[in-house]
Amino acid sequence: MKAVPCSGPAFLKLNTMTKFFPAVFFAFLVSCGSDSPDTPVTSEKQAQLKVGEQLYKERCSVCHLSEFPSKELRKSMLAPPVFGIMTHVKEGFEHIEDPSDRKDQALAFIVDYALNPDSTKSLCEPHAIKRFGLMPTIKASTSEKELEYIAEYLYENFPPDTFDHEKNRRKHHPTKELH
Ligand code: HEC
Repeated sequence: MKAVPCSGPAFLKLNTMTKFFPAVFFAFLVSCGSDSPDTPVTSEKQAQLKVGEQLYKERCSVCHLSEFPSKELRKSMLAPPVFGIMTHVKEGFEHIEDPSDRKDQALAFIVDYALNPDSTKSLCEPHAIKRFGLMPTIKASTSEKELEYIAEYLYENFPPDTFDHEKNRRKHHPTKELH
């Protein structure tokens, strides 16, 4: 470290800095702790989520419903609604302790499944494939990068906090319906 003269205004300035700098630095760290779950999402992240939402609407929502389906709508569904899918995907990775690892792997699963659907990889209940058939690959219209945005949007928004999957499962899939 450079020697600092211990007299005159330079010393005074340094003294003030060393006194206040740690406090200021600490406050900075606390206010910018981007890993804290309470921190509002940054505008960049928000923009990415918007892109993901848009792509999801264009490429996935033709088959996957976002909202809870009415009885009528259930009959004409082409694929499981997305809140159901995301419940199963999140359950599939909940054994991973580190939350960021858990999320990374769930996102990677969604990207991979949409590109290379395969019944042996499926995390949904078997009757989903039985009823709807295997998902066709999305490869021709959607790139891996685009799928990453979509997966991020899905992970952050589904299932909504208000959704009780167990209750839904009991109501719509009573045991006799499970083949
Ligand atoms: C042409 C209809 C169709 C489109 C479009 C579609 N899917 Fe699917 N998807 C399905 C069907 C049917 C299933 C249920 C059968 C299965 O799991 O393969 C499914 C299941 C899934 C699953 C659950 C996999 C599992 O079984 O664990 C994921 C994840 C998924 N889709 C993601 C997507 C994403 C992301 C998009 C948009 C990029 C998309 N899908 C677009 C029909 C579609």
